[in-house]
Amino acid sequence: MAHTRGGRESLRRFPEDFRFGVSTAAYQIEGAWNEGGKTWSMWDYLVRTDPGHIADRSNGDIAGNSYNLYERDIQMIKELGVDIYRFSISWPRLLPTGRPNYINPEGLAYYNKLIDLLIENGITPFVTMYHWDLPQNLNEQGGWLNPEIMNWFGDYARVLYQQFGDRVKHWLTINEPYVHCSRGYGRGNHAPRVRSPGIGYYECGRNILLAHARAYHIYRESFRATQNGQVAVVLSAEWGLPSTDSVDDAEAVLDSIAFHFDQYAHPVLSESGNYPQRLIDRVAAASANQGLSSSRLRPFSPEEVNYIRGTTDFLALNHYSTDIVYRNNSLIGQFEVPSYSDDKFVGTYKDPSWPTSSSPWIREYGPGFHQLLVYIKNTYNNPTIYITENGVSSTTGLNDDPRVSYYRNYLTAVLDAIDDGVNIRGYCAWSLMDNFEWAFGYTMRFGLYEIDMEDPARPRTPRKSAFVYQHIVSNRVIDYTYNPDPYTQSITGNAFGMSASILFTLTIAMFNLNL
Ligand code: NOJ
Repeated sequence: MAHTRGGRESLRRFPEDFRFGVSTAAYQIEGAWNEGGKTWSMWDYLVRTDPGHIADRSNGDIAGNSYNLYERDIQMIKELGVDIYRFSISWPRLLPTGRPNYINPEGLAYYNKLIDLLIENGITPFVTMYHWDLPQNLNEQGGWLNPEIMNWFGDYARVLYQQFGDRVKHWLTINEPYVHCSRGYGRGNHAPRVRSPGIGYYECGRNILLAHARAYHIYRESFRATQNGQVAVVLSAEWGLPSTDSVDDAEAVLDSIAFHFDQYAHPVLSESGNYPQRLIDRVAAASANQGLSSSRLRPFSPEEVNYIRGTTDFLALNHYSTDIVYRNNSLIGQFEVPSYSDDKFVGTYKDPSWPTSSSPWIREYGPGFHQLLVYIKNTYNNPTIYITENGVSSTTGLNDDPRVSYYRNYLTAVLDAIDDGVNIRGYCAWSLMDNFEWAFGYTMRFGLYEIDMEDPARPRTPRKSAFVYQHIVSNRVIDYTYNPDPYTQSITGNAFGMSASILFTLTIAMFNLNL
């Protein structure tokens, strides 16, 4: 078979055991914020007490109403033909006090129904334990800044394994520690809106790594032998390209990755464990300059390093975009002191030639994804990777050509990385459907399926990208010529026409035989 790297004419097949899926998260889709015995999460608290903080003053009270419409969600997953559904469990829906003293029967029934129906339909659940919706009760006790959270999270994880572990074999502990801590406890633009970019941000990250490790050890010690599943942490990683060929810019690229991905990946995935040395050194130097007697990045003890090291059975990776990265004197005075941004001391911008999106931080650059995946392979001894999020936002409307282009080019990057020996087992698109995009509300749409957020029935309609993703999944090939019309075609049944489909399969067979 011809392998034209990244070429539009490439008909490289995804390996037969490669798995496709779609992702969502509880607060972003469930709605039913006060139904069925659920208590408040810290996002429920934020949107009630500070609604002006959300771009369109919206909230997740109803969102896509998946609490009531989950059967339709599963139908959509079937329409796409994917075999993984990554969703998250709302901690306050299952444990209204946040603690295991009381399991809410209605919350339990909801997740049991969802999991059972997925399995009946041959779909593998990848379950995120925590996607940012901390019970408000625990938030009031300090949330991720209270070291006790290691025990709170461990107890919650134990309930999850006990209740669902007979059927759930892929557990994702905590979603994107970097984004959660930098927004929630650093910049303060996500719940719980703590502004502490030089101290709280690092404390949150430290407690998350320990809590993740606690959940991993509980599974290993008490559940793995009988349940035989896997537990992983979900890390976000963007890629960086140097602005010039200067030594400073090369260093800036390494620091930019050390200060988000490696900060969490190195303690878990590297042989030595602990934070990456360049992170330790930079924060220690900045802290000393600021007259502090110890680093704001509180060190792990040797016992803690050992406790965290090796606690992921695969890497669950979320990726969206690439930055151009630089370091020069123009940055002096640009950052708040103290802050992780000042510690990192890196400037970024996007290449203006890369396609834009409705998110200022996402521009399409597929080769950056390929380079990131190769970096992970080389830095962390080729771990097993599931891509648990990747996607781009649009506005409303079914003709989402920029998303089609994005998915094709990022999936081409995945094929390029597989060719380079990166051990990628699966890919989940973010997202199955439009959802509440945190501080951006509904102004950014990430769905393969559009949801009419004005209609109380919350109807879901496949966008063009849904047809294209379905076509890729069913043929296991990226066909850049496939051009469906989402306004006239139906996604159920044979969306792309029998004869076209047979022709396509025959073309691939001939290609394989070199005819
Ligand atoms: C990462 C987060 O996990 C998810 O909640 C968010 O909606 C997407 N990125 C898009 O920003």
